[in-house]
Amino acid sequence: MDFSGRNIMSIQDFSRDELEHIFKVASDMEKFVKTGSDILKNKILANLFFEPSTRTRLSFVSAMYRLGGKVLGFDDPKMSSKAKGETLVDTIRVIESYADAIVIRHTIEGSVTLATEYSNVPIINAGSGTLGHPTQAMLDLFSILREKNTIDGLTIGILGDLKYGRTVKSLAYGLANYDVQLVFVAPEQLRMRRDVLEDLSEEGTSIREVSDLDEVISDLDVLYVTRIQEERFPDPSEYEKVKGYFCINRRTLKPAKDDLIVFHPLPRVGEISTDVDSTKHARYFQQSSYGLLVRMALLSLILS
Ligand code: CP
Repeated sequence: MDFSGRNIMSIQDFSRDELEHIFKVASDMEKFVKTGSDILKNKILANLFFEPSTRTRLSFVSAMYRLGGKVLGFDDPKMSSKAKGETLVDTIRVIESYADAIVIRHTIEGSVTLATEYSNVPIINAGSGTLGHPTQAMLDLFSILREKNTIDGLTIGILGDLKYGRTVKSLAYGLANYDVQLVFVAPEQLRMRRDVLEDLSEEGTSIREVSDLDEVISDLDVLYVTRIQEERFPDPSEYEKVKGYFCINRRTLKPAKDDLIVFHPLPRVGEISTDVDSTKHARYFQQSSYGLLVRMALLSLILS
C-alpha cells in the first residue's frame, strides 16, 4: 500500500484496509519510541498551528524527532506574518519550499483543503473548523483496537459537544467502516449535525440518539467523552445554558459493564472527574500516547 506524498485531509478518504495498514505500522513504531530511528533523517516537517494545541502539535514534533527528522513552524499565528495580513495561500507557497510536509490546524473550515491546492508537499489536516480532525480519529480507532482487541461488534457511546466538536464527527465517520452501534449522547442544543447523521445512515451505521447517559451507560463497551467547545459558540449565552451539562464520575460509571473503557481526546475541562482516573475504565492518557505511534506511522508512510 503506497501512501507516499499523500495528503491527509479527511478520515473519509481512507478505506478500512488503509486504516488497518496504518494501525499495523503504528504498532511497528512502538519499538522506535525507546530506540529512536533515522527513517526520516533529512526530512523536515512544518507545523502551522493557527489554533491552540498541546497533543496534536507536540506529538507530531515528537514523532519527527523519534524518527530522526526535524520540525519548524509556529504555534502562535500572532508571531507569524499572518499578523501583518499575509494570506494562508502565500504562507503555504513559501513554506512548501522549507519543508517536506506541512501540518495545519486552522479555525476556518476548508482552509486546509485550500492549502492542498497550493502545495507541492503533502498537507496533514490537524483540525479544521468544526468538521474534521482525521489524525485524531485514526488514533481513536487505534486506541479502541488496542484496548478492546476489536472494533466490530462494539456499542460505542459518543458524548458531549457533538455539534461543534470535530473529533466526534471524524471518529463517527471512521467507525462507519466497522460493524458498530453508535449511541450519541448530547442535549438537544449539541446534537450531531443532520448531514453527518444522514451520511452515517447511508453507510448503514446503527445510530441511537439520547440526551441522558444514565439511559444507556449499561449498554456501552466504549464511552468517548468530549469537551463542550466554548470557543466555537457564536453566542456566549448559548454556552452558558449547556456549560457543565456533563460530569462523568465514579457514581456515573457504577452501572457500567466491568470492561467499559472511557476515552477523551483531551483537553478535559470538567467532563470527567479526576476520581475516574484511577478506575479500571480510564484510558484517556493511554489514548494520547497512542497518538504518537499513529503520527509516527503516518509521517513514515507519507514521507518515505
Ligand atoms: N485532542 C487534541 O486535538 O488535543 P489538542 O487540541 O491539545 O491538540
